Amino acid sequence: MSGPSQIPPAKSRELPIGIFDSGIGGLTVAREIHRTLPHEDLVYLGDTARVPYGTKSPNTVIRYALEDTRFLLTQNVKAVVVACNTASAWALSTLQRSFPVPVIGVILPGVRAALEQTRTGRIGVIGTAATVRSQAYTLGIHAGRDSAQLFARACPLLVPLVEEGRVNDRITRLILKDYLAPLLRRRIDTLVLGCTHYPLLKTALREVVGPKVALVDSAESCARFVREELGRLRLLNTRRRRAGKIFPYVTDEVERFTEQADRFLGFPTEPAFKVDLPAM
Ligand code: DGL
Repeated sequence: MSGPSQIPPAKSRELPIGIFDSGIGGLTVAREIHRTLPHEDLVYLGDTARVPYGTKSPNTVIRYALEDTRFLLTQNVKAVVVACNTASAWALSTLQRSFPVPVIGVILPGVRAALEQTRTGRIGVIGTAATVRSQAYTLGIHAGRDSAQLFARACPLLVPLVEEGRVNDRITRLILKDYLAPLLRRRIDTLVLGCTHYPLLKTALREVVGPKVALVDSAESCARFVREELGRLRLLNTRRRRAGKIFPYVTDEVERFTEQADRFLGFPTEPAFKVDLPAM
């Protein structure tokens, strides 16, 4: 496959970073990467025609993730960030084996941040049903610290609530209370927000968990990790002076994406384009 690995390193640094997600939520990760690395161009693919991934089987998620990554490589990206927790949980190692560029997921950075934050070693994680089923966070936490305890809860209602803009209303807080009660009973001191959409719920989550539980935003920790990894690989764009741009692609019509993008990102992107992903 032709790609950045065949381009001389000095040129590779100037290429964009690819990011994909099942839909729009991964813009929370794009936002943090843009904040952390403001001179990098980002090519964002939201697989809006096939969202959600969080209710799909592992094989389907892996197939979609392969197709998403293959598209990003046609855009000549220097690295791929799997913004989607569900795809990171199920597909990261397959992607890392299958493509000639660095592929970075959100789980390991979230795990590391949680282990840095926790004092008691009692950590909660919330995510989609597929992410929780994968046990990716549990395995990551135990690999980092045997004695830590991880309590996971699938929260399938949260993605639709965030997409409907219900981020801080009574119903959302009631649902959060219900989802989080078993984790709070386990006396967690750290909660990992293991889904692209949850950073938008931080205010409501803080109200529900109280002031003492540390919230780990996996979008923020991922952005720091991307900077570290690209720095280590000498792939950071250190020369560009202009602000980096975000080039979005979606697999369903662009209108809904464009309407919602601002809420997830907080600033405008370049115009979005619709693409068809060839099946593998
Ligand atoms: N992007 C997904 C994740 O972070 C949430 C939405 C979905 O289920 O596809 O797991």
